[in-house]
Amino acid sequence: NRTVALIVAAGSGSRMGGGIPKQYRKVAGVPVIARAVDALASHPAIDAVHVVIGAGQEAQLSEALGERVATSSSGGATRRESVRAGLEAIGDAGRVLIHDAARPFLPPAVIDRLLAALEDKAGAIPTLSMVDTLVRADGGVLGDNVPREGLARVQTPQAFRFDTILAAHRDWSGDAEPTDDAQVARAAGHTVLAVPGDIMLEKLTHEADFAAAEARLGAIMT
Ligand code: C5P
Repeated sequence: NRTVALIVAAGSGSRMGGGIPKQYRKVAGVPVIARAVDALASHPAIDAVHVVIGAGQEAQLSEALGERVATSSSGGATRRESVRAGLEAIGDAGRVLIHDAARPFLPPAVIDRLLAALEDKAGAIPTLSMVDTLVRADGGVLGDNVPREGLARVQTPQAFRFDTILAAHRDWSGDAEPTDDAQVARAAGHTVLAVPGDIMLEKLTHEADFAAAEARLGAIMT
């Protein structure tokens, strides 16, 4: 029952407005991708880490990882294509945790919860409940409110039986591009469980997220 972590890091980070891709930026001295690798590789249930990178990023990855051990392969034009390519490159495993490189702060307890939930289901993902009021706001003018009860915000890593998610990706034929792998698993008819996520797992998306992450780290360490 080999458990592999698959980190997708082939995005261009277009919402960050250029510069070096966010997965190679440092937060408090350590590259984002290195933090993600450390969090997964140090968990006792995880046997290997594979990173999906953009074309020509081999040198950038190896510089960011230093002594850390991870295999790598090339991604695609969308997150979905990058995950599919990574799963094909891994080839065989019992379980896989698919994780965004842009979520470098991954508490081990989240991995524990995911793997426990995977015992009797094909997939499990971390989620957070909605705390804010939700409203449609196309074009900046408010439309209808959306009841927040029963809604959740989706994080990664997402845990799946390896054969199940590989087959689901091979069979994917949806119209809208999926932004996570639970959508791909559900489209193939599988039940996916939600387990409690963690506020630390927020995705670094905008420039301000980096300063906020450094401030949080500082607060934890002092
Ligand atoms: O763009 P977004 O923040 O949704 O990307 C989520 C994760 O998917 C990031 O870690 C990014 O590097 C990865 N990704 C990828 N290949 C793409 C697009 C995104 O590996 N083509």
